[in-house]
Amino acid sequence: MRDFEEAVYCETVAKENLLEQLADIRDLPTLPTVFMRIMRLMQSKETSIREISQVVEMDQSIAMKILRLINSSFYGLSRSVYSVQQAIVLLGANTLKNILITASVFQALSRRSREAGLNREAFWKHAMDCGMIARYLDDKINSGREEEGFICGIIHDIGKVVLDQYFHDKLLAVLSEARKEGISFYQAERELLGVSHAEIGSKLADLWYLPDNLVEVIAQHHELRPDGEYARQAALIQISDMLAHRFQERKGRADPIPEMDPLCWHLLDLDPGQLDAWNDDLKAELEKADELLLLMLE
Ligand SMILES: [Fe+2]
Ligand SMILES: [Fe+2]
Repeated sequence: MRDFEEAVYCETVAKENLLEQLADIRDLPTLPTVFMRIMRLMQSKETSIREISQVVEMDQSIAMKILRLINSSFYGLSRSVYSVQQAIVLLGANTLKNILITASVFQALSRRSREAGLNREAFWKHAMDCGMIARYLDDKINSGREEEGFICGIIHDIGKVVLDQYFHDKLLAVLSEARKEGISFYQAERELLGVSHAEIGSKLADLWYLPDNLVEVIAQHHELRPDGEYARQAALIQISDMLAHRFQERKGRADPIPEMDPLCWHLLDLDPGQLDAWNDDLKAELEKADELLLLMLE
């Protein structure tokens, strides 16, 4: 086999191996059982708010996370909410579904990290920053899907947690390659593994039966498919991801920022020049992100 063909062959094999292995891992993190039960209940028009809240309340930890999020500055409600039932009446079932996804993902993945590897604190900070920026930009472009933007931001990098937990040696190799070569994590994993946290995360989201748009946005967050159904949401996350990295960089963190497809601006009808005008607002959103993160990781 010629060198080039051999390289392509090796890359394909490595990629398939990793994704195949993922499906075979028995102890992959799972979303709380209450999550699937609620999703099923919500599919039926006959389900009452009372039934939904009773099921949520069976998982005290999830119920508590949901109430914390609802009572935080995220929703800016004028009065406190003390029960899940009250929350559904006030915010609607769809909002509850979105909050449930957020709370469940935190529950499933927020285990403590090992001493070396992925810095979980920085990971969740980045996830929350990205979620808050996406929510802000979503509001600016009037998509009416701010909560989905938030969730996409929260979960876009979950593949990194999978790498850390199940392919730890590979993660360490990627981190060291990125540092040595001064390239982004994404570039380093493409070079070393032939597969990225975007594909791995999207596979996990699929195994979790998360909605299609989330599975797709995770897959595309470093490689846009401009003609795809969820290209706009993916573009929103690429921009939010870049901004979240940029704000961290200003604080002195020096990891190379992953490349962003310039088409993202066009897809959302946004002009990068607008960012300056939003700078103060975005900073305020990131402060809120810190507060929210404390609540979700407690
Ligand atoms: Fe990423
Ligand atoms: Fe990211």
